[in-house]
Amino acid sequence: MKDDDSTPIPGGEMLRVEGLGSGYGSTQVLFDVSLGVPEGGLCCVMGRNGVGKTTLMSTIMGLIRARGGQVVLAGEDITRTEPYERVRAGIAYVPQGRDCFPQLTVMENLRVVAEACPHPEGGAIDEALELFPRVKELLSRPAGFLSGGQMQQLAIARALVARPRLLLLDEPTEGIQPSIILEIEEAIAQLKQSAGLSIVLVEQYVEFAMRLADTYVVMDGGRVVEAGDAGALEDGSLQEMLAV
Ligand SMILES: Nc1ncnc2c1ncn2[C@@H]1O[C@H](COP(=O)(O)OP(=O)(O)OP(=O)(O)O)[C@@H](O)[C@H]1O
Ligand SMILES: [Mg+2]
Repeated sequence: MKDDDSTPIPGGEMLRVEGLGSGYGSTQVLFDVSLGVPEGGLCCVMGRNGVGKTTLMSTIMGLIRARGGQVVLAGEDITRTEPYERVRAGIAYVPQGRDCFPQLTVMENLRVVAEACPHPEGGAIDEALELFPRVKELLSRPAGFLSGGQMQQLAIARALVARPRLLLLDEPTEGIQPSIILEIEEAIAQLKQSAGLSIVLVEQYVEFAMRLADTYVVMDGGRVVEAGDAGALEDGSLQEMLAV
C-alpha cells in the first residue's frame, strides 16, 4: 500500500508493460503486449481461455522470463530482476486457483508472509483481516478446509500482508458463489479507494470487472487486441468482443 511520503511516480504510472514477449520453451505465448496501470488505478485484462492472461501475470511477476520488451514499476525497469526482488519492490501476486498452504491454519498462512516481508510499523495482518471479516472468523482452521470463496479471500488477504503497492489478481471470481464475489468486489473497491493500491485484475466475469476497472485490455492469441478507458465502453460491447 502507498506510503504517504512516497516520491512522485514518472507519468503517474505504477506499472508500465511495454512490448512484452514471453513463452514456454520453444513456444512463444505473448507478443508485443503493452499496458499501463495508473497509480491507484485498476486495469482489467480480459480474454478467452488460453489467450495468455496468466502468462502475462507470471511474466510481470518474473516467474517467466521476458523475451523482449519491458516491465517498469513506478518508473524503475524491473524486467531482469528476480521474483523476490519484485516482491520487495512492492508487487504481490494472487495466482489463479488461489493456492494456500492447505495444512497450515489461516493465521499461519498470513504469518508466513508477515515474517517474510516484515514492516517496521506492523499491523499488516490485522489490516488485511479487516477487509475480510469472514476470514477473521476462521483463523485457527487449516486452510485446506476452507470453501473456494473463503480460500480466495485468504489468498488476497495474504498478498496484502506484504503491503504491496501493485496487486496482481488472476481470476478471483472463478468458481466462487455470488455472495462471496460481492464481498471480494467490495474489498477490491475499498483497496483502490482508501489504500490507493494499484491493481491488475485478470477477469472473465465482465460485469464484475467493469464495475471496478479504470482501464481495460482485451487479449487474443497472446496479443492485446483492444484497450481503452472502462468508462467509455458502451454496455455490452465487451461481451461482444469476448463472445466465441
Ligand atoms: N507451463 C506451461 N507450459 C507450456 N505451455 C503453457 C504453460 N502454461 C500455459 N501454457 C500455454 O500458454 C497459452 C496461454 O496460457 P495461459 O494460461 O496464459 O492462458 P489464460 O488466458 O490465462 O487462460 P485461462 O483463461 O484458461 O486461465 C496456452 O496455449 C497454454 O496452453
Ligand atoms: Mg489463466
